[in-house]
Amino acid sequence: TPGVRPLIAGNWKMHGTLAEATALASGVAAGATEKAELLVCPPFPHLVPVAEALRGKAVALGAQDCHAAAKGAHTGDVAAAMLKDLGAAYVILGHSERRADHGESDAAVKAKAEAALAAGLVPVVCVGESEAQRLSGEAEAVVAGQLAGSLPEGFAAAGGVVAYEPVWAIGTGRTPTEDDIAAMHARIRAELEKAFGEAGKTLRILYGGSVKPSNAKGILALPHVDGALVGGASLKAEDFLGIAAAL
Ligand code: G3P
Repeated sequence: TPGVRPLIAGNWKMHGTLAEATALASGVAAGATEKAELLVCPPFPHLVPVAEALRGKAVALGAQDCHAAAKGAHTGDVAAAMLKDLGAAYVILGHSERRADHGESDAAVKAKAEAALAAGLVPVVCVGESEAQRLSGEAEAVVAGQLAGSLPEGFAAAGGVVAYEPVWAIGTGRTPTEDDIAAMHARIRAELEKAFGEAGKTLRILYGGSVKPSNAKGILALPHVDGALVGGASLKAEDFLGIAAAL
C-alpha cells in the first residue's frame, strides 16, 4: 500500500530455549533494515530477556496473546499492561491456533483487542479460513465475518494490524495462489474501509502461512500485502531477514 511501511513479523510460537531466543533476537537486530519494520513475538517467558537483547535496536517486540481483563484473578494469564510495561509494542490476537486450541471466538478476540488498545499495545488480529471453507467458496465471507466480529472501535486510530492466515497454509508449505492472496487482501481492505473510512486505507494487512525467503518476493509485491506474519521461517535469523530482504 503506497506510503505504508511494511511490517515483517515473526511469531515464534512455543519454540526455543532462553539462550536460543536471545541469540535469535540479536541475530535479527543485526540485520535490521530501513525498508521494513521488524517485529519478533517470543513466548511469554522469553519476553523480558528478548526485550533486553533488543534494547536500542530497531526491532519491535510483541507477545502472542493477552487476557481481556486489565488485571485480576486469572491464573496463568497475562495482562496487556504487563506486556506494555516490559517493552512490548504489539500483541498477536486471535491466531487460528488459539481459536482452535482455546476456543477463542470473534467476541473473545475483540475483548482482548480492546484490552490491548487500553494498555497502549497495537493488536495484530489474525483471520483466515479453513481448507473446507476455501473449497466451498466461503473464504471471503468467513474472513469478512471474522473482521466484523473481532475488530474493536479504536482499532484504526491505534494503527491496528490485520494478518490474513489461511489455516490450511500454516506450517504446511502450501500457500494460496498469488491471485487468491491478492483477492483476499483487496476484500480485507474493502472491509477495513467500510468499518473505519479513510483510516482503513492505510492499515497494514499482513499475509501469513508458509512464507519463506523463496516465495516472499512474489507475495510481498501483491497489492494490499503490507508485510508478512512468519512462523517457521522466523526461527532462523537468516530466513527471517531473507524475507525482509525480498521487499
Ligand atoms: O503466525 C504465523 C504462522 O501461523 C505462520 O506459520 O510456519 O506457516 O510460517 P508458518
